[in-house]
Amino acid sequence: MMDWTDRHCRSFHRILSRNALLYTEMATSAAVMHGDVQRLIGFSPEEHPVALQLGGSDPDDLAQASRNGAEFGYCEINLNVGCPSDRVQSGKFGACLMREPDLVADCLDAMNQAVDIPVTLKCRIGVDDQEAEQALPDLLARVRACGILTVIIHARKAWLQGLSPKENRTIPPLDYDLVGRMKATFPDMEIILNGGLETLAQGLEQSKKLDGFMLGRAAYHKPWQLADADSLIFGAENPVSSPQDAVLAYLPYMGDQLQRGVRLHSMTRHLLGLFHGRPGARRWRRILSEKANAEGAGLDVVREALEATSQEMETI
Ligand SMILES: Cc1cc2nc3c(=O)[nH]c(=O)nc-3n(C[C@H](O)[C@H](O)[C@H](O)COP(=O)(O)O)c2cc1C
Repeated sequence: MMDWTDRHCRSFHRILSRNALLYTEMATSAAVMHGDVQRLIGFSPEEHPVALQLGGSDPDDLAQASRNGAEFGYCEINLNVGCPSDRVQSGKFGACLMREPDLVADCLDAMNQAVDIPVTLKCRIGVDDQEAEQALPDLLARVRACGILTVIIHARKAWLQGLSPKENRTIPPLDYDLVGRMKATFPDMEIILNGGLETLAQGLEQSKKLDGFMLGRAAYHKPWQLADADSLIFGAENPVSSPQDAVLAYLPYMGDQLQRGVRLHSMTRHLLGLFHGRPGARRWRRILSEKANAEGAGLDVVREALEATSQEMETI
């Protein structure tokens, strides 16, 4: 998610689950080819498994950007055909490509030929006045024909005129049933459900007949729930047993990044929701919000917030 799931966020989420697949923010193929690649898509090996998401509509560029991603060590390259922002539409990528399944297939084909790691797609069920019942299977059939077997479907349309990106994540109605029917139509494809899922339990329930689910906003705003993912989904032990332990486990990473000149706030902003719904949550948020942005703020701010939060918990 743009501006949210940067490398600091992913490093933190990896502490909560060793197994959940994490995705980068979308990076355009042009930026990955010509920009400051290290800054844009650099990541720590500890984040694995992590997939690079690309945006674009030029098959050659996307192939080259995919190669760069594979060289950086990503385990999957994902093409975004679901983002509705104006900026994205003017560059002809994101959700407007739902109208151009042949071009999407050409892009995916070029990407798939360029790398040995899996290439996947993230899409909507349709855009604007498209008949989703028709448009979605048409797209999937083309995608599958070029050997792409994994698709993450945000189970609502994008309305490209008149809605903000934010509204496009809430207003068009969700249609989980349609996504379910795609699995029945394409049983050899991996169909991953996304959109409106609030909890792991809800994700598991709604994706029973599918191959998995993706949490976006809920994972970001209430990250502690990710700490159950390993046992609930992957049959493994959960790596941390309390939000406090998660913070302690993240401290060495933050210390290292501070030494490299990263500001504390760039990391702690991803932790604000960690104590969501627990005693001390407000103090946690307040101390981090007020103090982590100060020039030179260091780990003592995090320790102070942790201490204050723990004290509040004890008084309950
Ligand atoms: C701030 C923000 C940024 C997002 N950026 C991306 C992005 O870069 N690529 C993408 O595929 N989806 C992006 N999304 C959409 C989410 O991945 C997801 O599809 C959408 O929020 C619906 O899922 P959810 O209800 O679990 O959040 C973004 C969402 C938000 C809130």
